[in-house]
Amino acid sequence: MIIGNHIIHLGSVFSTSNYLKDMANCATEGTVVLADQQTQGKGRFGRSWFSNSGSLTFSLLLQPKLPMQSLLMFTLFPAVSVVKVLRAFQLFAGLKWPNDILLNGKKIGGILVERIASEHGHNLIIGIGLNLHQSANEFPEELSQAGSVFSESGRLLERENFFKAVLRQLDSDYELIQKTNDVTHVKKEWLTFCAHLNQSITVTFQNQRLTGEFLGITNKGTAQVATQNKVFEITNVTELCLRSPHVTRN
Ligand code: BTN
Repeated sequence: MIIGNHIIHLGSVFSTSNYLKDMANCATEGTVVLADQQTQGKGRFGRSWFSNSGSLTFSLLLQPKLPMQSLLMFTLFPAVSVVKVLRAFQLFAGLKWPNDILLNGKKIGGILVERIASEHGHNLIIGIGLNLHQSANEFPEELSQAGSVFSESGRLLERENFFKAVLRQLDSDYELIQKTNDVTHVKKEWLTFCAHLNQSITVTFQNQRLTGEFLGITNKGTAQVATQNKVFEITNVTELCLRSPHVTRN
C-alpha cells in the first residue's frame, strides 16, 4: 500500500493541502493528511472551500513516474476513484469536468491538484473535499449548486469506513498506473462517469463564453467542446457550467 501508508490525522488545520505542502520535502509518497476541520480550505480558481463537521477533507502526496504529457490525464484519476467508491455504496455519483463529483446534479465533492517544485520527478498534492453529512440548508447561500451525500440521498455514511474505502480505491488505481506507466484507461473510466457527455455545456475559454457540446477527452487529457464553427480543446483549468445537469446510471 502506498496511499495511506502514513496518515496524519489533525483536529483543525488551515488547509490539509497547505499542511502537506509545507512538509512535502520530508514526507514519503502516499502520505495522507486528514483534518476534522479546515479553517481556510482552498478550492479551485483561488476560491475558498466550504467545510464543516459533515465534511471529509484530506490531501495526499503522490510522485507518479510518468512523462509530462501524461500528467493531465493522471490528474483525472482521483475523481474516478472516488466515484467508484460512491457507486459501490449504491450512490450513483457522476463527474463534471474536470473533477467535480456530482450527485443528483449537486456538487458533493471537489479535487484540487497542485504541483510543487521538485528536483526529481513530479510532486503532486491531491486535495479531496467531500460533503458527507450536511443538510441542504447548511451550505452558504452562494453555494446553490452544493449538496452532500446526505442531502441528496438521505444516507449517513460512516465517515471512517468511507474514508478507508476511498483510500483503498485510490491506492489500487494508483498502483495500476505506477505498474503500467499508463493512464489511457483513465479516459475511458472518466467518460463512463461523465454527467454531461454529448450534452450542451458552457465554458469560459480565453475570455470568451462558449456554448457547445462536450464531446469527450483527448489522449492528452484535455476535453473537447464543439461549437457550431469549431472544436475547442479545453484544459482542466477551464470552468464548465452545465446547462441541464443530470447524472446517468452507467
Ligand atoms: C474544488 O474547488 O472543487 C476543489 C476543492 C478541494 C477541497 C479540498 S478539501 C482538502 C484539501 N485542502 C484544501 O484546502 N483543499 C482541498
